Amino acid sequence: MSITIALPTGTIQGPGLALLARAGVIRVTPSQLGRRLLVEEGGLRLMMVRPADVHAYVDHGAADLGIVGKDQLWEAGPGHGTYELVDLRTNACRLVIAVPEKSRLRGPESWPPALRVATKYVRATTAYLDSLGQAAEIVELHGSVELAPLVGLVDAICDLTETGNTLRDNRLRVVAVVGSSTTRLIANQVSLKTRAREVQDVVRKLREAVEGAD
Ligand code: PRP
Repeated sequence: MSITIALPTGTIQGPGLALLARAGVIRVTPSQLGRRLLVEEGGLRLMMVRPADVHAYVDHGAADLGIVGKDQLWEAGPGHGTYELVDLRTNACRLVIAVPEKSRLRGPESWPPALRVATKYVRATTAYLDSLGQAAEIVELHGSVELAPLVGLVDAICDLTETGNTLRDNRLRVVAVVGSSTTRLIANQVSLKTRAREVQDVVRKLREAVEGAD
């Protein structure tokens, strides 16, 4: 039976495909992939899933391995059937609290008793604010989060920033950093035991490709 790897659609897909090719695991270009969600080559299956779904596919064993942003692992919480194995070092970004440039709010010491925050990352945001003892009203959004403080929905956002362009273009400034994220290789715990040789072969190739890039 083939080894199955779950790869996220979106910004991780390109660097993920490049890393898999460089490691000699599977060679598929984005144009060869097109809109296909499943490709098979040389005893290996690659499935394309939404970033937030990679953890579920691996945790439940539908994929043996997964490439996923650390930010999605924060959101997924502790997995029951998943190990995080390798920092693949692509797609480096930070999860930050940001406010409109004109806001009076600065660092956490200046935040109101109940901060209103919009985010896609409810779990990570809640954990961070709890760790500060900061009460908050979290508004869950599904994208374009930067708009929310500009139209008075919230005081602040908690969102990922990579280049900083989206924050800059929407006149937002960072007031706190929640965490730093890169892509990680995760494995299903049962696959690691029952298919150890095939799974470890892929893990080793990816680890060598990442370390070789130093
Ligand atoms: C992500 C993130 C920011 C943006 C940051 O959004 O939520 O909006 O990228 O990148 P930058 O710092 O390089 O500008 P995504 O593209 O996933 O869209 P969405 O959150 O609006 O769905």
